[in-house]
Amino acid sequence: MRLLYLLLFTLVISCKTNQEPKITSEIKPVFGVIEKNAMVVSARKEASKIGKDILQKGGNAFDAMVATEMALAVSYPYAGNLGGGGFMVYRKNNGETGAIDYREKAPLAASKDMYLDENGDPIPEKSQLGPLAVGVPGTIAGIFEVHKKFGTLSIKELLTPVVELAKKGYVITENQEKRLEHFRELFIETNKDTILYAKTIKANDTLKNPMLAKTLERIIENGKDEFYQGVTGEKLVAYIKSQGGIMTMEDLNKYEAKWRDPVQFSYKDLNIISMSPPSSGGVCLAQIMKMIEPYNLSEYGHNTLKSIQIITEAERRAYADRSFYLGDPDFVKIPIDTLISNEYLSERMKDFDMDKATLSSDLSYGSIPGYESSETTHYSIIDQFGNAISVTTTLNGAYGSKLYVPELGFFLNNEMDDFSAKPGTPNMFGLLGAEANAIEPEKRMLSSMTPTLVEKDGELWMSVGTPGGSTIITSVLQTILNVKEYGMTMQDAVNAPRFHHQWLPDVVIFEPNSFDKKILDSLKTKGYKTNEEESRVIGKVDGILVLPDGNLEGGADKRGDDAAVGF
Ligand code: DON
Repeated sequence: MRLLYLLLFTLVISCKTNQEPKITSEIKPVFGVIEKNAMVVSARKEASKIGKDILQKGGNAFDAMVATEMALAVSYPYAGNLGGGGFMVYRKNNGETGAIDYREKAPLAASKDMYLDENGDPIPEKSQLGPLAVGVPGTIAGIFEVHKKFGTLSIKELLTPVVELAKKGYVITENQEKRLEHFRELFIETNKDTILYAKTIKANDTLKNPMLAKTLERIIENGKDEFYQGVTGEKLVAYIKSQGGIMTMEDLNKYEAKWRDPVQFSYKDLNIISMSPPSSGGVCLAQIMKMIEPYNLSEYGHNTLKSIQIITEAERRAYADRSFYLGDPDFVKIPIDTLISNEYLSERMKDFDMDKATLSSDLSYGSIPGYESSETTHYSIIDQFGNAISVTTTLNGAYGSKLYVPELGFFLNNEMDDFSAKPGTPNMFGLLGAEANAIEPEKRMLSSMTPTLVEKDGELWMSVGTPGGSTIITSVLQTILNVKEYGMTMQDAVNAPRFHHQWLPDVVIFEPNSFDKKILDSLKTKGYKTNEEESRVIGKVDGILVLPDGNLEGGADKRGDDAAVGF
């Protein structure tokens, strides 16, 4: 009977999805929303629906990007934004790929030691809360640049439904009520006043944001310049200044989103297209996947001792390199080709021993001859024409710096904390950085955001990404592996329990109560430090998988209010 079930399961898997049918679980697969033509998966159903409506109206994935990004700014102020930045990777239906960087930059008046006290020690509040934490926002430049290059509908058509959403309001979920409650005091403290989001807001309340509606209307009217040169920019700069910040009109005037070449690499029969620096996402993902490629993970099974060990050791080595080599490519030279080459990476894994953990204290960044020296949101869209995008956007921490511009209706980022305030001192994600990621005027801070597209046999296969600070890279990794190596559906792949290692601190974190105690004990015996207590969610992944019959399966992470909507 059991064998029969397994056989049936194998059949289901191999018919419905195009991964190797290696069965590692007897649990019945759960599929996400399946649609024939197009799909948007994001952190809020209102945003996914607005994106989908744009597609249904004949717009393409890039049009839907503009609308979805702004709809998240209205309905998901935790991370959706006008006051932050992000990255998008795309693949057009003709196979052409590219990426855009609309990451925040350090203001002109920023300096290397701006977050250090008189003893030279970092003051974390300064880079995390309030006006000094704010990097020059890139989101509006990003959506306008995307629209200019690929958009087919007018900005007015794209943003009018978003203005309507801000005017009519959106329904607060229980998750949102909890988060707003959690941050209320900090909002009031940071803004030295009450703000829209500091009111008592309960689940099922409808929340309107008329000031944000007005800001968006001015943007529809005057375009990108409204934010970087117009009334909105002036109000923004005046407000930041009144709070003691350093951003000026010159900072806004000089901001530009940049087209970048994505990082591309193969993993078995997959071709992975992911974000290049100033995000570390693509490079680290490439390093980890290339280091684990020689091992037969599907044979070892999902979240088994051997799989966890191999992935952890590859992660340890990639994050050690990240902290040393990576930064803004416009300021530092990054040896990307070497970092993701097979020769370099097989050398990196040479001392890996299945019997015992490598200690992070014994491991540093790899040597390359000649080299001198938390909150975010992701959405994936595939349109009815076959274009695909993968976008991760952020304010950094939850509600960013907590600084909210009442007259404009949005929060400002605290992205400056992603710089390395002092070499060797961890940022809010425990990540270390070196000179490559030191603060300099106009430099972009290093990111972990990993918006990723995957091709299989030359065809589009998956769009995937997630928030989660330093855990972004490892969450994207595990989601791809869950489908490719462990035969899961897109929905199961995003829901599956995750673990994370980032070199330092030398501890493997596991989602609580989701891993086999015996496996955790064996890891400890081999010298791994494990932590199951930390309640931090490891990623909140959204993705879309192209099924063998051409249908699209949306995977919306059960850890949030995420929703897949398509037609
Ligand atoms: O760019 C980065 O890597 C971070 N600012 C992302 C922050 C984040 O994902 C927070 N979400 N939990």
